[in-house]
Amino acid sequence: MKEQKYYYISTYGCQMNVHESEKLAGILQQRGFLPAKEQKDADIIVFNTCCIRESAEQKILGNIGAVKPLKKEKKGLIVAVCGCMSQQSKMADFLKQKFPFINIIFGANNVEFFGKYLDTYLSQQKYQNMVIPNEDYIENENGVKIQRDSTMHAFVNIMYGCNNFCSYCIVPYVKGREQSRKASDIITEVKELVKMNYKVITLLGQNVNSYHSSLDGKDVDFADLMQILCDIPGEFELRFMSSHPKDLNSKVIDTIAKNSKVSKYIHLPVQSGSNEVLKRMNRNYTREKYLGLIDEIKQKIPNVILTTDIIVGFPGETDQDYLDTVNLLKQVRYANAFIFMYSKRKGTPAEKMENQVPLEVKKQRIHDLLAIEHQISDEIFTALINTTQRALVEEETDKFYIAKLQCGKVVKLSKHQVSTNVGSFIDVKILDYKNGDLIAKI
Ligand code: 5AD
Ligand code: SF4
Repeated sequence: MKEQKYYYISTYGCQMNVHESEKLAGILQQRGFLPAKEQKDADIIVFNTCCIRESAEQKILGNIGAVKPLKKEKKGLIVAVCGCMSQQSKMADFLKQKFPFINIIFGANNVEFFGKYLDTYLSQQKYQNMVIPNEDYIENENGVKIQRDSTMHAFVNIMYGCNNFCSYCIVPYVKGREQSRKASDIITEVKELVKMNYKVITLLGQNVNSYHSSLDGKDVDFADLMQILCDIPGEFELRFMSSHPKDLNSKVIDTIAKNSKVSKYIHLPVQSGSNEVLKRMNRNYTREKYLGLIDEIKQKIPNVILTTDIIVGFPGETDQDYLDTVNLLKQVRYANAFIFMYSKRKGTPAEKMENQVPLEVKKQRIHDLLAIEHQISDEIFTALINTTQRALVEEETDKFYIAKLQCGKVVKLSKHQVSTNVGSFIDVKILDYKNGDLIAKI
């Protein structure tokens, strides 16, 4: 009998990568591999990498390096590296030189061909460098088996790549130009997920608001796509990630407002509250335009939960620029903000900008801003006490059901008071807010 083989995938970075790893897992399972609980038990280890900040790259390099002893111990262990980090120019050669034990390298956009690369490696037992230039990439997702991590949450790609070239960001260089997936393919996939009883479907793209395609000869933009998906019968919630403030328009806001199936949760990265910095970041909106959007959202979607991304210490960021960001944060009042220190990325315009901010200043700013955000977030969740919120029951422990609000905030329900099922949407009354979790009853 053939010996059972196991795989282990280490995923870094954003939700897009998490979803790409679900495709890698599907391809491996189709070839008879099963998931290993621990890396040391695997016959193939895949690193699905990220390069958005230097810290991510350093961590990945350390983790690939740590496989060396395993590779010595276990003859036949296959090590594959893919994703955004390997897509960078000359990176495949650098990685192979640093870690000669790597067997397969491929890039960020050709995950669906992984099976082919693996088969070739297995038959030839020869190193495969399969990174292809972004221009040569053709979307070919249909037909790839997706081994989803969850039976409740599902990710669906609606577009790939990015055309925005924010001056700090490496994504457009590694992911290539924007490509929208065909509306009919997305609709088919979502219908299947609803049939399979998936409860939360998250539409993924670097900038979902610039989605455009056609259906039956008619143009379909992002708002149209959301409306078509909301009209699919069944009990599910639709989310999306990420939005760009320059493209989020009134039609999208109205579509979110009027459809009960769309989560009342918007992640709207602002990056900075200073017009000078926004201009140098090439974000194509002003502080005023952003705040205008937020006003419109709050007015049309009264209980909306907002989150954002912020970069501190962008080149040339003065104390006043930083204070503009602090003020914007206080004005918008986000339930959560992902705050990053600016990280120089090779080949981006910001890498060459003068007045790079010293690390100490960046550290102070991120520290202070996180403290302000934590306080705002605590106030927002404390204000939910005595209100009723919709939540999805996602887990149960001995004492609690663990449910989550649309923004991902954990709500604990004592089993004494509640009888429900994992996978159900329930209306909960918030009783308390303790140690970062909401406590509730039905
Ligand atoms: N340095 C720090 N943060 C960055 N991001 C993107 N590029 C960089 C960089 N060079 C952040 C942005 C983006 C999020 C996904 O990562 O805030 O919205
Ligand atoms: Fe990067 Fe800007 Fe594109 Fe987002 S919109 S992926 S920050 S270039």
